[in-house]
Order: sequence, then C-alpha cells, then structure tokens
Amino acid sequence: MPIVASSQTTSQTQQNAPLRWILETSDTAYVVGVNRLGQVVLCYWGQKLPHHDDYPTPPDLGEYASFNGAGQRNPEEYPTHSDLKYIEPCLKATFSDGVRDVRLAYQRAILVVEEETLVIVMQDEHYPLKVFLFYRVHAQTNIIERYVEVQNASDTPITLERLFSAQWHLPMSQQYVLTHFTGRWNDEWHLHRDMLTQGVKVLDSRRITSSHHHNPSFLVGEPNTTETQGNCWFGLLEWSGNWKLTAEVTDFDSTRLSMGLNDWDFAHRLAPDTRYVSPSVFIGYTKDGYTSASHALHDMLRARLPHPDIARKVLYNSWEVTLFSVDEASQMRLAEVASALGVELFVMDDGWFKARNSDSAGLGDWTPDPIKFPNGLQPLIQHINALGMDFGLWLEPEMVNPDSDLYRAHPDWILHFPTRKPTLARNQLILNMARTDVQDYLIAHIDALLSENNISFIKWDMNRNATEAGWQTDGEPREVWVRYVEGLYRVWGTLRERHPHVIWQSCSGGGGRADMGILNYADQIWLSDNTEPTRRLPMQKAFPMIYPANTMEAWVTDMGESWLPLAFRFHVSMTGLLGIGANIIQWNDDQRKLAQAHISTYKAIRHIIQFGDVYRLQNAYDGAYSGVQYLTKAKDEGVLFVFRTHIPQPTYPYRLRLRGLLPHVQYRVEGFGTKTGAGWMNTDCVFDLENFESKLIRITLMGD
Ligand code: DGJ
Repeated sequence: MPIVASSQTTSQTQQNAPLRWILETSDTAYVVGVNRLGQVVLCYWGQKLPHHDDYPTPPDLGEYASFNGAGQRNPEEYPTHSDLKYIEPCLKATFSDGVRDVRLAYQRAILVVEEETLVIVMQDEHYPLKVFLFYRVHAQTNIIERYVEVQNASDTPITLERLFSAQWHLPMSQQYVLTHFTGRWNDEWHLHRDMLTQGVKVLDSRRITSSHHHNPSFLVGEPNTTETQGNCWFGLLEWSGNWKLTAEVTDFDSTRLSMGLNDWDFAHRLAPDTRYVSPSVFIGYTKDGYTSASHALHDMLRARLPHPDIARKVLYNSWEVTLFSVDEASQMRLAEVASALGVELFVMDDGWFKARNSDSAGLGDWTPDPIKFPNGLQPLIQHINALGMDFGLWLEPEMVNPDSDLYRAHPDWILHFPTRKPTLARNQLILNMARTDVQDYLIAHIDALLSENNISFIKWDMNRNATEAGWQTDGEPREVWVRYVEGLYRVWGTLRERHPHVIWQSCSGGGGRADMGILNYADQIWLSDNTEPTRRLPMQKAFPMIYPANTMEAWVTDMGESWLPLAFRFHVSMTGLLGIGANIIQWNDDQRKLAQAHISTYKAIRHIIQFGDVYRLQNAYDGAYSGVQYLTKAKDEGVLFVFRTHIPQPTYPYRLRLRGLLPHVQYRVEGFGTKTGAGWMNTDCVFDLENFESKLIRITLMGD
C-alpha cells in the first residue's frame, strides 16, 4: 500500500502525534498532515526517503504581524478565501445568507485501500459544507492525482465562485523557473522558461476550449535544472474547457501553484444535498530533470489512452490540397496514389457534406452532399477499403452555420444572449453542448453515420471559440462553461462506447484542444494547422515535453517550404505520427519512390517512436541544429533524427551524445560503428550537415 498514515486516520486532531499521511510512489513521496491549527498542510514533496521518520512533521509557521495570519504562511493544501490570508485560494463561495467566507477545518480521513486513495475530509466551521480532498497514488508512474468533492448538506444553495482542483507548494526559499507554452492559431507550442518572481503569474483559457494560447500543463524547475538533472515538479489538468493556473511567489518566500476550472465568469450553484466534483490534476516530481518529467507524463498518459497498445496508422488527408473541393472521383484518385505509397488510412476532410462548398454553409447537416457524393459515402469507402486502407472522416459536431437546415430548425440551440447579435467567426456559431437535446441530436446523428458506414477514424474539429456564452436555463447560467465540456464528454464518450474500434483525432483549428481531458476520448491530436517543417521542428519538440509522441500528428505537406528536400520533410513528420497532406498526384516517380521508402521505414520504426522514450538532444529547444532520439522501453532499439535548418557559412559540425542507453552493452549506430552504451553517451557523434539536411539513424543493441 503506497499510503501510510502515521497516526490513526479517523481521529480528531487532539492527539499527541500529529496526523500525517505519507503517499509514496516508486521514487517520490508526497506527505500531508494536519498542523496545530487544524490546517491540512503539505509536509514534503520530493524524492522518496529511506525512513518515514525522515519526512518533516506538519509545519506551522505562525502569523506575521497583524497583517498576515498563519493561513498566509502555512502551505495549506486547499486554502479558502477567509481570515488573514491574502494568497490565491482554491475555494471561494457565497452562502445563501450572503456570507462570503469559507473556514474549513480538518475533520477526518479515509483510506480507500483498493483505489490507493486517501480522502481528507474538511468541514466548514459553521455551515454544513464539506470538502473532500482526494489523493490517488499512481505508484508505477510516480504520479499523484488530486481532485476535490464539495458537498452541500444544508437546505439552502451555496454558490461556488472558485473551485480549483488543488494547490501545491514547492520547497521554500528557492528560485523556480516555470516552463509553459504559448501560441495562437497556426503558431502554437512556443516553449517559454520564466523565472517566477514575487506576485502571481496566471495562465488560463476563457475560450471554452483549452486553447491555442496556453496549455493546461506545467513544469517547474530550479535555475540549474536541465534535461538530464535537477529538481522538476510537473503536472497537468484533466480538463478541456476554461482552466486557470496560478503560480504565486509570496513575500514570505513560498512558491505555490494552483490549478483548476477558471473562475472567470464562473459560478456553480451547489443545490441542497448535492455534491460537485472537480476535474483531476496529475502531478509529479523528479530529481532527474525535464526528460525524466516527460517520461513520467508519457507513461501515465499513454496507459490511459483509449487505445493504448494500437500502433497508429500512416494517414493521408487532402485538406491542404483540395480544401472544400472534394468529390467521389477526385478522392478515389487520391486514394489510389496514397495506397500505392503505403498509406494505411485515408481521411476525407471538410467539404463532404450537404451544401459545404465553402465555410459559409452546411455545418450541422451531417449528410453527404448529393452533388459530390450522389450515391452517398459507400462507393468511396468501398473503394478505399478495396485498396487495403481504412476510411476516416472529418466532423465538426459542435458547430452550425446559420445557412444550414439544423440552424433553421433550431436557432435557439446556439450559445447566445437573446438581446445580442451572435458573433460569427468563420461564418459559424456554437451549439450549446450544455443542452441535453443538443447532445442527444449529435449522438443520434453521428451514431447513425458510424453505424451505416465503415468508418475507422474521425477527425473531430472545432474552429472557433465562444462568445456570448449565454444559456437560457432555470439554473445558474454561468455554469455553461463547465456544462458545455461535460456535454461534449457525454457525446464523445457515448459514441466511443458504441463504436469502440474508431480512432478519434482532436483538432480545434490545429492545436486548440490539446489537453489531458480530451485524451480520454481522442487517441491523437492535431498540433497545428502550420505544417511548415522549420516551424514544426520547435513545435514538435515542445509538445512532447508533456504529451507522448503517439498522440502527435505530423503530416508531410506542401505548405510554405515545399522546396525543402522531401527527406527533410519526411524526417520532421516521422518524429511523431506520420501523415501525408501533400498533393501526391503531382509527385513525380522519384518523389513517389522516396515517399514509399520513408513510409516503409516509418512502419519499421514506429513502435520505437510511438511506444518508446523520447530524448531531446543538444540544442533541444532552439538553434539551427537539433537532434531527437527515441529508444524502446527495453532499450534494445532506437532511432535518432538530426536536422540542420539554415546556418550562414562558414559553419561547424553538429555534435551530440546519445542518451538513455544501457552502459555496458554494445550498440551499433548506423554509419558510426559499434561501442558500448557508455561509449556512445560519453563521446560525440559528429554530423557534417548541409543547410536543410537531415538524417535518420537507427540504433541497434548488439549484446554484451
Ligand atoms: C481546421 C483544421 O485544423 C484543418 O486541418 C481542417 O480540417 C479545416 N479545419 C477544415 O475546415
């Protein structure tokens, strides 16, 4: 059992020994306790220690003058908005009598042994409001999952105005560097490293999706943390809607992070005798730097994917070539060429459904366009299946064009305020997924589509963010932000259950919905509409800081840099889930042969990329030279990709050292010879690359 209580778990605090719970994973420990004031506080979060007595007892730093109470200074696990604390709280609520102050005190704890879960129960001093702090230990992957349940046992409602999932504290009096990601449509996944200084840094989304702009994940290191060494605390939120992360450095030298539902325009009406459960956050610690943090996240995320063990197929998608001009004959022709290249999954993107000749009509009416597909989708699907490929289809279920039968029948189904003109973006409006009638409609229609056609893959797109997020309900209309996402999960989850073989892709105009929550439904993620290889290189190094390579779609297209060597374009895409989105009809024989060879190589190495560990090598984040290595979990097979973009002459060669190998066994590195793992990890491989040259190098274990 990875949870140990150091004194009785059901007793009150008036005991001699302080209450303390030690949550241990394979390598780490998270220790919480109850201090003299009855506060639930963090005692320790770091490397697992040899003996339980090594862990500190619950801290009580006391108050500081009349301006700051103990709540301000102590590392509370779930601080509320109350008394002399002015830090970022996790919970803010208003009771029906207008009191806006929540005072929680430890009540009891429960160990749910079979679920490896500790539950700490806190109770408001005056009102029958209870908060249950859940800690689930994922021992193998060194991850602790935290979430809260709030329970209203009174006969009047309570309005929740902030409900974070958790707060964590880093060791005091240290400096920390926050790694996070920013972006925008067509330009996602810029990696940032910011020193945390006094005050609050906020990252969030107010868009109804997790958004292109920030990602609900974090890595916090110390200034000397590197890829290979140093303390790193990391985590991510299992949620696909509005979210918020606060990283606060107080004037008492403590650094604390909180994460959860965004409290912007947020309210939840907790009716009498009801409970509300927050999304989970998954957090971890490593002493071995950023690569080790990524590996822990990847192991945890990969195991939870809907299809954890299925290798992803090489796909073709013609969107960037044809845009809305799809029809039976032209898609069949593309499919024939794609299949000859070795493509395994042919996906038809936007433009296939009724009246969809541009982005101004059709969304909502998910039936094949009678002019483009006079006999429905069957002839195309049968042709594709006969070519030996699976068939996939694009949908944008949450959206509707005003010019659609669905909107004409149900104009009230969209997110809107009755007195405001709904803002159009890409000529479309958003269906209110909080409504069960909307959910039922989508389930029925998509279920029929999947039942009537042999569809193996769905690309689920979403091409705008929310405005006028009104909901005409008897309840609390601001719940729409959360209810929308719950509705989305219900629709997607029901369809998954009914069609378990289907692989789903999450796309929101590129990478607008890349988060842990959506990975319970989607198997893979479209990172960005930007497929230019030199922009993709840094994006595809940032994304796998958090998410595993078997969720990262990467296509070879003609975008922007089609003059780049085809090998370079393939190598960039082969570091994730290889797809093709180029105009393959125009490729000449040499190009087709080259593509065939790359696709066949990818099929031979994809198990290493999709299920192995990633190592970011020298110049991992910037610089014209870069290298990325993948190694199987058994460390018996690897693949190395090196790239040079543009360096003005004269230049110098690229040097890198391999990582992660078993030190005492021999490995052959294609083109370099055979040495022990230790040899490769301590001596340089030197590459004389030209501008825009790349190499794919296989690493093979030879034995002792
Ligand atoms: C945005 C997606 O990111 C693209 O790949 C494509 O599917 C278009 N939408 C289609 O409208």
